[in-house]
Amino acid sequence: MDARRRFRDGAWHWSYHLHLPHPVYRHVGSPQTARSDPAGDTVVSAVGPAARADSTQGDLSMDIEEALYTTRAMRRVRPDPVPLDVQAEILDAAIRAPSGGNTQNWRFLLVDDRDVIARVGPLYRHAIDQLWQTIYADRLAAAAEHPEDEENIQMAKVQRSAQWLADHFEEVPLFLFAFVQADPSGGSIFPAVWSAQLAARAHGVGSSLTAVLGFFHPDEVFEILGVPRDEHWVMACCVSFGYPTGRWGIAARRPVHEVSYRNRWGEPVGFTVDQPLWSPQAAEPGP
Ligand SMILES: Cc1cc2nc3c(=O)[nH]c(=O)nc-3n(C[C@H](O)[C@H](O)[C@H](O)COP(=O)(O)O)c2cc1C
Repeated sequence: MDARRRFRDGAWHWSYHLHLPHPVYRHVGSPQTARSDPAGDTVVSAVGPAARADSTQGDLSMDIEEALYTTRAMRRVRPDPVPLDVQAEILDAAIRAPSGGNTQNWRFLLVDDRDVIARVGPLYRHAIDQLWQTIYADRLAAAAEHPEDEENIQMAKVQRSAQWLADHFEEVPLFLFAFVQADPSGGSIFPAVWSAQLAARAHGVGSSLTAVLGFFHPDEVFEILGVPRDEHWVMACCVSFGYPTGRWGIAARRPVHEVSYRNRWGEPVGFTVDQPLWSPQAAEPGP
């Protein structure tokens, strides 16, 4: 990608050009956004806000509450590719996120090369196996003992879904590996990652944040992806992306009044919220 400045309509406009070398993605952009450059590569361009308004490049106009309430781990996805212009919108939204001191010490590595994914897949499966045998061992044992408990039902659902991703890793069309420097808290990378997931949601693309590769196989992944070892990059996570096979739903969580206080630890927050305050019906326009 390169950025060029042009004077047009009495003002300077930045023009971002995305060269798409991958033949699979040739001409996947909308007619308004795709053209061939002299070198023969497909170019997706967005020229300032005015051009975006009448562009057909994606649609980030989803109700923000709908995005917030329904963006959840969508691991079961179809193998259909995520078009490059949608990928560009996802990452362009992501990099608007805050980072400490606005340092933006981040790198976003998109991976859609099937050979690369085939090398990472076995590592991912091994990492998930390790996860079940260590961090989640007690919870899984409890779930096996009392499978009827609501908490255990939820745990079993998460395990099935997570295992699906591990078992079908090679079929997922796109992964995003997020790297950050000098950010022990993760506070300078996860806002961007979540923005990417929200932007994907707005495009109908499901995603799931995963961390197991960083726990169990960071060195192998660095080697496969060619990440420099002497620049202190930390792999924050790997996010899977694809068009979901299931339906979007509201994320089930412990209610807000059970996990929130006011003024002093343990004191009631001052309201109770028994049902989610957004619902698909609430979002529908009235008569
Ligand atoms: C820091 C972090 C690490 C995660 N690591 C993994 C992972 O390694 N593999 C996976 O399948 N899901 C992973 N997840 C996804 C969570 O399991 C998921 O967000 C959670 O179960 C809630 O799912 P829901 O939004 O569909 O209800 C991770 C999420 C977070 C925030």
